[in-house]
Parts: sequence; C-alpha cells; structure tokens
Amino acid sequence: MTAEPLVHSLIPDDLEASRLPQHVAVIMDGNGRWARQRGLPRIMGHRRGVDTLKKLLRCCRDWGIPALTAYAFSTENWGRPLEEVDFLMTLFERVLRQELAEMMAEDVCIRFVGDLTALPRSLREEIERAMAKTVDNRGIRFTVATNYGGRQEIVQACRAIAALAQEGKIALDDIDETLFQQYLYTAGTADPDLLIRTSGEMRISNFLLWQLAYAEIYVTNTLWPDFDQTEFHQALSAYQRRDRRFGKVQP
Ligand code: IPE
Ligand code: IPE
Ligand code: MG
Repeated sequence: MTAEPLVHSLIPDDLEASRLPQHVAVIMDGNGRWARQRGLPRIMGHRRGVDTLKKLLRCCRDWGIPALTAYAFSTENWGRPLEEVDFLMTLFERVLRQELAEMMAEDVCIRFVGDLTALPRSLREEIERAMAKTVDNRGIRFTVATNYGGRQEIVQACRAIAALAQEGKIALDDIDETLFQQYLYTAGTADPDLLIRTSGEMRISNFLLWQLAYAEIYVTNTLWPDFDQTEFHQALSAYQRRDRRFGKVQP
C-alpha cells in the first residue's frame, strides 16, 4: 500500500482545512514601489517578486490548496518602458528554465493563460515545454497569466463562438454560461474563491473579469516582494471569516 501524501500537516491550527479556498488568485503588485523604497531599480523588485511567488506556490501545495493563479503580465503592461518589458520577458524565460525540475519534483502542473502569440519566441518555447512536461502532475494546478487581459479573453471567446454559429455548428440558443466558459482560457478550472491583491490598490486591473464574479477580495498594503507566509495566513483567516452568500439570504 502506498503512503498517503503528507498534505495538510503544516496548516496553521486556526485554519479549517475543509474550508480553505480551492482556488486562490493573486495580483502580484508593488514590485516597483518595493524597489524604489530601497533606492533600487524597479527590476530588482520583479526579481524579488519571483521568490515570493515560489514560496506562495509551495505553501499552497503544502496546505492542500489545489489551484493558484498569478497575474504576471497584463495586456496593458506593454505600455511600460521597453527595458522593463524586456527584463520581464527574459526573467520569465529564465525562471521557467531554472524551476522546471523543481516543479516536477513538487508535482506542479503549470499552465499559462493569455495571448501567448505576442510573446517572444524563445519564451513561448519554454512555456510550451514546461506545460507539456508538467501536464500530468497533480500536486497543484499553477496558472500564470501572461499577456493576459480579461476583456481580450472575453472578446476572443465571443469570436470563437460567433464562428461556430456562423458555420451552423451551434444555434444561438446553445450559447449559455456553461458554453461560454468553455471558450475562456481558464476552461476546465473552477473560478477563484479568493483574490488577493498586494500594495493596497483597490482594483482588479483587467484580471479574470468573468471568473472573479463571486470571488472574495482581500487587499493588503504589503508590497508583493514582502508578501510572506504570515501574510498569506492572514488572508486565509480573513477568507474563512467571510459570509459567502452568492446573492441568497441566510436560512
Ligand atoms: C507588479 O509590480 C508586477 C507587474 C505588473 C509585472 P509593479 O511593477 O506594478 O509595481 P508598482 O505597482 O509599480 O509598485
Ligand atoms: C496589475 O498590476 C498587473 C499585474 C500584476 C501583472 P499593474 O501595476 O499593471 O496595475 P495598475 O496599473 O496599478 O492598475
Ligand atoms: Mg503596479
């Protein structure tokens, strides 16, 4: 008989394992401000931000949270200075290459959502390699939103569905929420239960517009590079105190 995987063992006592979010989404914001506060170039904040994400991914996995989605680069982030955009693309590529073995060892299934066609070819190849290699891993589903925009995602779904209708493959009456979701990048993944945004900004900046319909939102003033396990614990405690009504009233 194979031993049960050692999960849930490290969950803090005050959290209820049965009521943890099944999918956490994070808007990793504040890297630039973190660097500026230290008199460093913005890119140093992005570099530190990678360490934060690695730790959060491991923590989710250890605590039995089955899905984590991180916003790494928005469709609007192309508007940043060229050196910063270039640095980020190179950073993503390098981190993917360096972390693949570790992700295999930790049973992480990585996927990317967004319009990947606009990314540099070498990054795209690294993405494809990582997705193909980890596709059967079941430890945690880790989704990275890169060149992602919620509006862009909805428009591309509309186009795909309109094409089906035009070709007579579906009738207008077939278009409902269930069908629509199947044409989003996130098809097959449950919607996030908890959205965390760091750096105090009270907005969703074009992230998962459809999928966040009923997510609990948690905003912390902490900047992303400083977001640690204690902060995550606080976010989960706050989540467990929420009353999720989904538009209904308590019986
Ligand atoms: C988030 O940090 C990382 C990305 C958007 C890539 P920022 O770079 O937005 O940091 P601030 O908001 O300028 O501090
Ligand atoms: C959102 O952060 C995008 C990512 C974290 C990748 P931004 O820093 O781009 O968002 P705004 O500009 O503050 O809305
Ligand atoms: Mg920002």
